[in-house]
Formats: sequence, structure tokens, C-alpha cells
Amino acid sequence: MRYENIVKGRFIQRPNRFVAYVDIEGRQEKVHVKNTGRCRELLVPDAAVYLERSNNTSRSTAYDLVAVEKEGRIVNMDSQAPNRAVLEWLWTKRLFPDLVSVRPETVYGNSRIDFYIETVTEKIFMEVKGVTLEEEGEARFPDAPSERAVKHVEELIRARQEGYGAIVLFVVQMKGVSHLVPNAVTHPEFARALRRAVSAGVRILAYDCRVTMDSLTVADAVPVSLTAPVCSERNAPTALLEKFNGISGNIKENLRKGELSAIAQPLLKWYDMHRRILPWREDPVPYHVWVSEIMLQQTRVEAVKPYYKRFMEELPDVASLAQVSSERLLKLWEGLGYYSRARNLQAAARQIMEEYGGQMPDTRDELMKLKGIGSYTAGAIASIAYGKREPAVDGNVLRVLSRLRMDDGEITDPKVKQRVERELAQLFRDAADLTRPGDFNQAMMDIGAQVCIPGSQPRCGECPLRECCMAHECHCEEDYPRKAAKKKRVVEEKTVLVIRDDNLAVLRRRPDKGLLAGMYELPGLEGYRSAEEVNRYLADLGLKILRIQKLADSRHIFTHREWHMRGYMIRVDELEPRPRTGETEEWLFVEPGEAGERYPIPSAYAAYLPYLDIRQGKPSAMEQAEI
Ligand code: ADE
Repeated sequence: MRYENIVKGRFIQRPNRFVAYVDIEGRQEKVHVKNTGRCRELLVPDAAVYLERSNNTSRSTAYDLVAVEKEGRIVNMDSQAPNRAVLEWLWTKRLFPDLVSVRPETVYGNSRIDFYIETVTEKIFMEVKGVTLEEEGEARFPDAPSERAVKHVEELIRARQEGYGAIVLFVVQMKGVSHLVPNAVTHPEFARALRRAVSAGVRILAYDCRVTMDSLTVADAVPVSLTAPVCSERNAPTALLEKFNGISGNIKENLRKGELSAIAQPLLKWYDMHRRILPWREDPVPYHVWVSEIMLQQTRVEAVKPYYKRFMEELPDVASLAQVSSERLLKLWEGLGYYSRARNLQAAARQIMEEYGGQMPDTRDELMKLKGIGSYTAGAIASIAYGKREPAVDGNVLRVLSRLRMDDGEITDPKVKQRVERELAQLFRDAADLTRPGDFNQAMMDIGAQVCIPGSQPRCGECPLRECCMAHECHCEEDYPRKAAKKKRVVEEKTVLVIRDDNLAVLRRRPDKGLLAGMYELPGLEGYRSAEEVNRYLADLGLKILRIQKLADSRHIFTHREWHMRGYMIRVDELEPRPRTGETEEWLFVEPGEAGERYPIPSAYAAYLPYLDIRQGKPSAMEQAEI
């Protein structure tokens, strides 16, 4: 977009947000300021400014202030410029080669969204955000708290959920930035909203601009980093460095490079003061560590304590575990659940007796050959019981490291766990001062269990790592670890048939296994069928059809699937005698009045039951627990 009639002036002063006095060729002019943000910082006395002369003679000011020079660069300050530039740029079709129409300023929900765009295949809402703030080579948005920006992003999330395409487009009004980051210092909620938007499928794009004194043109794509920490040296962890002396260098810098060595000493110091006193920790022989770790899988520490005590009193070593009867073993385990853990424990004890002469192996690889011992348990035994420099990565450790480094990896993904194990293994190789690997691993577990707890209220005030925790700095602890996008539900289209004669209606029993096993349903066909197809199907079964009537479509949502149903009401001459064999063998002819009481019918069919005169009871437990 290009301005006509641009003149240069020198800023003098600003009596209010919308008006400025400017020196133009020696005379003082009152001008209109279009942008009310960042003015205090940019409009300083004597700053070179660029003004567009207005042709509108009825205005009280003859000029609009549209740009200012700062440190040799022109910063466009015109709040309308990005949208004008984007409109032009959209029609270059670089973003959407199949662009059909663009409607500016469209109301959606409670907001006015900058553009509603239609392409051949998509309908898209796009919100444009002009970015003028650059710090340390990064473009940052917003430059001041902006509730409106958050609201716009939320509106786009809603649009996305309703099936529209949705885009936040940052127009970086300068060239040469390395990337764009949400400015979590000025408005952390906006950074959070953007992350939520990404998870919801909103696209976040940024483009820089060529800015001259009389033009602004959208130019090249700029990477967007939603995870890069927005922190500056003013927050350097000097307090931490002093508190835990012996650490040198900039912790945050190291963390950014992926080096975890900086956290070891603060963590160990914290552990020495705050570690939990746990029975298996007091005498960490391999057998104790092993049994406790297996018990602690899926069970809380407090719940494990009495079981552990009883178990050790009766089965104090590998040999006794190998020999005990399975009934007694399961009795000792009763209440802990997941009984396969106990069976595996005994199988491994027998392996140890037979293959390792009764001695638990001491390397990760050998430990992993034992039944029921995976990578985490092997690491825990090797490090805690044998002092081996091996990581033990459980969910707690993954959460702590995810927040510490604002790591976007989804911790339920086995690849992420393997990557973190590699990173920690590297730490154990590199950090010569990490002399207590077992304590380091347990400190991570304790921090995760007691301080860096899941959810929105981690106890950051108690955390020895808070000064170097990126999520804490960005106030986005609750956004980490990232959650895997929920799996899309499978959509199943069905045709549902309400088949009645004067007295009876048809139900059929569902199979004994699978979804809604053993419940009763209306007969039907897979897919959406036309009335003709239904007619043919029923005629083939030997029914004499009097009338067929289309009913309203209906949907039912299960945990992992959706039924999209098309219904038909079919009046038949007579349901008795029973029509021909085949699938109708599973049909039941029921008296409509009694059906609801006698037969459990899933609420998925609720929309069609009134046509049977069936009143439904509460959804049964069987129905609620989708299998
Ligand atoms: N959770 C599982 N194992 C643990 C351990 N050794 N210390 C603390 N929490 C744990």
C-alpha cells in the first residue's frame, strides 16, 4: 500500500493521544495520530516523522502521522496500514492461489474479525496484528497488554471448532527480524491464547514488510516461535547463582542450548534439605529399590508405604520372592491392583535366581532383560542402588523438564521420553560434578511429585529451579507439558429403522462383545440409505410395507466415535408371522409399551424412541462405559 502526498516533519509534542504538533518546513502543524500505541516511546521531541496530507477539507487536521524514524529505521505507526497492505497482498494470491473473495471487517461471535476469506475449498477467518516492536532481533507482540487481542484469538479458536479455517497473521512492520514471539512479558495471557489456538488448529503466520516513508508492502514469511522464551538478561539467575555457589555461567543460556548441567547442583542442594523420607530410601539395596519402584508404578507413595512394609517383612529378599506361592504373593499385593506387576516381579525373581545366581544384575541392559523391568525401572535401580550414572525418566521428570525448557514434546509420546533419556544420559556423561546420580534422579522425581505438580498451580515459589525455568518466566507453566491433540472421533453413518405394525415394534440385540454389548437397539443399515433402498431391503426380508416416512437426522457422541443417524419410520402390514430367516432371526417383536422397561436401549437412539412409544430409563452403566 502506498501513501499519496507524504511530507516529512519533526515531532514537537503531543497534547493528547490523537493529536500531535509537528514542525513541517518551519511551521507548527496540528496533526492527527492514527496509532495510539508505543507513541510515548517513538514520538520523542525532534524525531523525524512522516505525514500524509489529507484531501478531506472538513477535517480539523490536515495531516495524518503515519511513520516515524527510530534509530535510522522507519517504523510505520498507522494502525490501518497492515490491513490495507494485507488486502493487497491477499490478491497477489501468494497465500491462497485459489482465492475467490475477501470481505474485510466481518462480525463473528462477539468480535469484528479483520477478514473473511473464501477460497475454492475453504472459508477462513483471518485476524491481522500489526507488529512494530523489535527487541534483540525478535519481533514481539503485543507491545502493551491487549485483552482485545486475546478475545480475537479466542474467537478464531471458536471459528476453527465450528469448521472454519482460522489464521492469525502478524504483519511485522519492518525487515530483518529473526522470528516473531508472543510477548509473554507484556501480556502472558496472549502467549497462552496463541498456544491454545495452535492446538485448536488455528494457523499462526507472520510476514515482514518493506517499509518506506510512503509505503508498506508485505514481503517475506517470518518464523513464529511460540516456545522461545521471552526473557532478557535482566532476569538472569544471579540470585540462584549466589545461593547455590559453585555454578558458573548463565544457566538459562545453557538450558537454551539443551545443556542441563546447570540444574544438577541446585537440585541436589534442594534434595538434601527437602527429600522425602521413604522406607526404601533408607536402605536402598537393589531388591528394596526394585520392589518399591514396581509398587510405585500407578500407585501413590503414601499408599505404597504399608504394602512395602508388609511385603518386606514377609519376603525380605529375592530368594523368598522367587519361592512364595502365587496365592500368598497376590494376597500381599491385594489392594495395590495391576496384579500382573506382582506376577512379573516373581517371574523376574526366578530369573535372577536361575540366571544370575541370586544377585540382581547391575547394568541397565541386564536389568532390562528381567520380566517387568523397563527403561525407567532399570535406570532407577542402576542409579539409586548401584550409583550408576543412568537416567530414570518417569512422568514427573518429563513434566519438570518440559516446563523448565518449554519443551513442546508431548510427554506421552515414547519418542519424547527416549529423547529426554538421551539428553539426561548426556548430562551424566558430561557433568563431572554430578556425583550422586541416584539422588539426582530422585530429586527430579520429588520436585515433580511435590513442587512442579501437574495442572495450573505448581508450587513455583518452592522450586529451586524457578529462576531458570522458562515456563515460569513466561507464566505459562500450565501450558506445559503439551497435551497430545485428542484423537478425532470416528464418524459412523447409519440408517435407523423404526419398524411397526399396529401392535408390535422391532428391536434387536447387540452382540455380546464390543460397543454397547448386549443392549437392544433399533434395526438398521450401515451408511445413509434412501427410502428406496430401505424399501428394497425390507421387501427382500419378506415384509409388506404400507408406508415409509423419513424422520429427522440425529447424532450421538461416544468417547471415541460419533453416530450420525438417518431415521425412517416404516409401517408394515403385519410383523407376525416372523419374516424370513437371516438377520431377522435376531429381531424381537416387542410391545411398544413394555419395551422401555424390559429392554435396555442405548440413549443413542433417543431421537427415534418416541416413534415406538417407548419411554427410556436412565442410560445404563453398560451404556455409559463404552468398550
Ligand atoms: N516415584 C517412583 N519412584 C520414586 C522414588 N524413588 N522417589 C520418589 N518418587 C518416586
